[in-house]
Amino acid sequence: MKFSYSNPTQIFFGQGQISAITRALDPQAKVLVIYGGGSIKKNGVYDQVASALKGFDWVEFSGVEPNPTKETLDKAVLIVKQQQINFILAVGGGSVIDGSKYVAAAAQYEGDGWDILTGKHQVNSATPLGAVLTLPATGSESNSGAVITKAETQDKLAFLSPYVQPKFAVMDPDVMKTLPEKQLLNGIVDAWVHVCEQYITRPTGAMVQDAYAEALLKTLKKLGERFADRDSDEWRANLMWAANQALNGLIGSGVPQDWATHMIGHELTALWHVDHARSLAIVQPSLLRNQIEFKRAKLEQMGREVFALQGDEQLAERTINAIEAFYHSMGVATQLTEHGDDKEAAIDAVISQLNNHGMVALTENQSVTPTEVKQILTAAIA
Ligand code: NZQ
Ligand code: ZN
Repeated sequence: MKFSYSNPTQIFFGQGQISAITRALDPQAKVLVIYGGGSIKKNGVYDQVASALKGFDWVEFSGVEPNPTKETLDKAVLIVKQQQINFILAVGGGSVIDGSKYVAAAAQYEGDGWDILTGKHQVNSATPLGAVLTLPATGSESNSGAVITKAETQDKLAFLSPYVQPKFAVMDPDVMKTLPEKQLLNGIVDAWVHVCEQYITRPTGAMVQDAYAEALLKTLKKLGERFADRDSDEWRANLMWAANQALNGLIGSGVPQDWATHMIGHELTALWHVDHARSLAIVQPSLLRNQIEFKRAKLEQMGREVFALQGDEQLAERTINAIEAFYHSMGVATQLTEHGDDKEAAIDAVISQLNNHGMVALTENQSVTPTEVKQILTAAIA
């Protein structure tokens, strides 16, 4: 184990915390508030943000879509550049927060912001930003990652930079009251797979990371099983905190990480607009079955610790079945159907996009090459 760890995002967690923005901001800040398609206008979040910003100099940019596009975000980049914005406040789910991270970095760069995603430009500064989270799932509110789509070419790529890590994140579980059931389920699944990507690799003896990952998995499993309680304060607060902890850098410190499910899933979203979490549920069980020999020990550990499975016989196989059954119990499909009726063409399209993006040796072992992707998708696509 060798790592450097810092999570500098200040969290304001709990009911009524949107008002904390007033204290968190420099009174001299010129703020751009970025939000999505308007859910915050209907549920009172916009009004709470506006009241916290009373007396501040601020403007707004709306219309960031789910799976945010460079095309839309570049309009906000112009606003930051032209209006001397020196703080960005993202109010929304992962898409709005990721989009705001792109805006923050691209506004400090003279070239095309897409260069950040291709790696042509290494981010070396960004407009500071904060987040008001409205959908717990991605962990984007306190991590340094962002996933952006170029609609023109159907490319969905990620970048990581400490410069775009939010300075603060407001996490008021009350904002979840208006989330459609589907988005609550997406939150459970996305957070669950985030833990899995950092846990189902190989044993390293990292007892703290393993045990904390298992605690998060058990929590998410309970929240799924107790979905009927989703209107309680306790349920909402637990999902919001679990999803945050699943991808804030802590459980991934000093251990191998996989992320192949995410990389393949991003292509399904870019090509067929499958919700991010749903793309993961489609890919992950087939990928785990394909890679079972590399992951057997951790799958067995997960089977015992998270699902309380007994016996040694076929334990890794039974754990994958239990993961799949967990998704099915929440009504989340594990096969792609959005691609139409040409399965071969769909598989080729995904492989070709992965090749374009240099994703030809995935997982902690670089053992998922186009050959394995083909096998995985043959099982994962209906
Ligand atoms: O746009 P509005 O009107 O706000 O509606 C949104 C959107 O339609 C709605 N919503 C959000 N909060 C709501 C609400 N509706 C009612 N009440 C509320 N309180 O929910 C819809 C989906 O929102 P979105 O932000 O797209 O969802 P999510 O948080 O799941 O974000 C998904 C994006 O994050 C990326 C994904 O790839 C995808 O682009 N990811 C980011 C990561 C990161 N930065 O670390 C990691 C993840 O693995 C993931 O890849
Ligand atoms: Zn994810």
